[in-house]
Amino acid sequence: MRVQNAVVLVTGANRGIGSALVTAFLERGAARVHAGARDPGTLAAVTARDPERIRPLALDITDPTSVTSAALTAPDVTLLVNNAGVHVMGHLLEMDLRDVETVMNTNWLGTLRVLRAFAPVVERNGGGAVVNVISVGAFGGTPSMGGYPASKAALNALTQAVRPDLAPRGIAVHAVYPGPVDTDMLRLAANALPRMAEFPRATTADVARAIIEGVEADTQEIFPDPFAEQLGEEWRRDPKAVERRLTDLA
Ligand SMILES: NC(=O)c1ccc[n+]([C@@H]2O[C@H](COP(=O)([O-])OP(=O)(O)OC[C@H]3O[C@@H](n4cnc5c(N)ncnc54)[C@H](OP(=O)(O)O)[C@@H]3O)[C@@H](O)[C@H]2O)c1
Repeated sequence: MRVQNAVVLVTGANRGIGSALVTAFLERGAARVHAGARDPGTLAAVTARDPERIRPLALDITDPTSVTSAALTAPDVTLLVNNAGVHVMGHLLEMDLRDVETVMNTNWLGTLRVLRAFAPVVERNGGGAVVNVISVGAFGGTPSMGGYPASKAALNALTQAVRPDLAPRGIAVHAVYPGPVDTDMLRLAANALPRMAEFPRATTADVARAIIEGVEADTQEIFPDPFAEQLGEEWRRDPKAVERRLTDLA
């Protein structure tokens, strides 16, 4: 899909990768970007970059009313980027189960909720694309990362499951598997996992540009940074080695 003149929705656009995606889509010629955030008050700095083309959008992906109302407020979307996500560290056998529920409810069920609301919107606008921001963490479990890897593995399966249903409706589905990217989320994980410091960190700007290049090249699986590319290659060759690398993190 060409980004030029597309109308994009980015969820979780107020910071991190989402915020960088807004800028990158504008640079690539998107006609409009709906910047989703659960608190639109946090979007001031993002919308100030181009008030004409950036529309702040109240969107909490865990709240059905918020999602329904966002689909009515942004009826012109042709490219949906499901970027919003959460991470809570902890060990699955001991941590508060409510934290596991929050992660699954956001990263998996919340993404599905947004997809169900916006697929008809994209279809009505003549088709387009959906981009799900997953993680290389989907390729294995990491003991101290709580429900996050499982939520991303579930999102990966969801992405594959909806692709054949959306193709005849003119909607391409892209899966994005970032490695470590320099954001608040990574800092949270790195604080608890000193070994994360060994890994190179991609910038949000580089990752955002690589995602857009992947969409324009019609790449179904996008590995948007060198670490992700290398892990993806290893996963295709030797999935057991990747499982060991991810479990050995701690
Ligand atoms: N950073 C990495 O190393 C890395 C690696 C692989 C994959 N990813 C994925 O990339 C995506 C972006 O992560 P990031 O690193 O940019 O993290 P981040 O800086 O922590 O940003 C997360 C974004 O998601 C939003 N969000 C969380 N819950 C939401 C909800 N219920 N409704 C709407 N928005 C919600 C946050 O909004 P608030 O400000 O309101 O909290 C924030 O805008 C996530 O899906 C993450 O899993 C990140």
